[in-house]
Amino acid sequence: MARIVTVVGARPQFVKAAPVGRALRQAGHHEYLVHTGQHYDDRMSAVFFDELGLCPPDCNLGIGSGPHGAQTGAMLGAIEAVIQREAPDHVLVYGDTNSTLAAALAAAKLGRPVAHVEAGLRSFDRRMPEEVNRVLVDHVAQLLLAPSPAAVRNLAAEGIVRGVHEVGDVMAEAVADAARRLPAQPPVLRALGIAPGAYLLVTVHRAENTDDPQRLRAIMAALEHIDDPVVFPVHPRTRKALAVAGWAGPSRPGLHLVEPVGYLDMVGLQLHARAILTDSGGVQKEAYWLGRPCLTLRDNTEWVETVAAGWNTLVGADTERIVAAVRDLQVPGSRPPLYGEGDAAARIAALL
Ligand code: UD1
Ligand code: UDP
Repeated sequence: MARIVTVVGARPQFVKAAPVGRALRQAGHHEYLVHTGQHYDDRMSAVFFDELGLCPPDCNLGIGSGPHGAQTGAMLGAIEAVIQREAPDHVLVYGDTNSTLAAALAAAKLGRPVAHVEAGLRSFDRRMPEEVNRVLVDHVAQLLLAPSPAAVRNLAAEGIVRGVHEVGDVMAEAVADAARRLPAQPPVLRALGIAPGAYLLVTVHRAENTDDPQRLRAIMAALEHIDDPVVFPVHPRTRKALAVAGWAGPSRPGLHLVEPVGYLDMVGLQLHARAILTDSGGVQKEAYWLGRPCLTLRDNTEWVETVAAGWNTLVGADTERIVAAVRDLQVPGSRPPLYGEGDAAARIAALL
């Protein structure tokens, strides 16, 4: 039995930590769950704990929002104190957020082994804050839990071969579990009067799109031009960015901007969408597993296998390309299994 300090802080990490937490309990490990407070609105945090069967955090550091350095630095000091107090066998981190980097650095400085879920993902674009975070975390981790053979190769190309294990992707279990518990129709659709299958689902929150008013305006222009109804749960960062970009609000009745939705609603919205337009990492994979075509509003992706399989198309933030891709949408005939066999959480628990 191992003592594990898990550090989460942002929406996708709550989703990932749920199946792993269950597997850790089943394996008899002791998990101490730290929430950095990076995401704090109920719709960005509490709803996931309520819906996913996640144990409430053992401590919430309440760090909140801020510039990268201030936010990461505040987390670093606070996490260091927790690790010193709890003296875990492993510090478990997920993905590529500032919470991930702070926890990995704090653990590494204290000589505690870091286990990184989603190791080896690369966009090869160092302008992305996420890319800097994931590269640094992989270089201080002892246990590198990679979702795919490509991720293992990326690590090898950086000289990281010890402690690397291809385990698959824990999000596959999260989405499969949610899909079993869905209501017949997402309540959001009922409220908006939209029929299942008759709309596009959109999410946008990446810095490269939100912090560049020109890109954000180009994406919004595409959503205005498209005929299909659009359901767009808006990340708080994007809500603010839309105001900065001077977006005046929807100019057509079918363009619905709603508050961020809980995980069950989100999986339901993905399942019933004609297609998904997103710059999210997690949503690209979920779209694939749920069998919905995805248009990625970025110029690159870490999830290259979904593109190679024909289910994901990179459309950038180019109005004409987005509109044309929606018009010409095609659903490939086959969907090979990707990112493991749905047992990543149990494998991680066994490795720990
Ligand atoms: C973070 C991650 C990103 C991840 C995303 C998941 C980093 C550098 N980025 O981006 O990789 O894809 O989470 O959603 O760690 N805000 C609120 N309420 C909240 C949370 C945020 O209003 O509960 C607003 C604040 O204005 C804040 C802004 O959103 O400044 C950005 O939040 P932050 O956590 O810094 O980054 P995300 O864009 O959420
Ligand atoms: N998600 C959600 N509600 C939303 C938007 C996203 O539950 O309104 C879920 C989504 O299904 C996925 C995760 O949040 O499981 C992805 O988080 P996000 O897109 O914020 O971050 P990324 O994966 O890009 O880091």
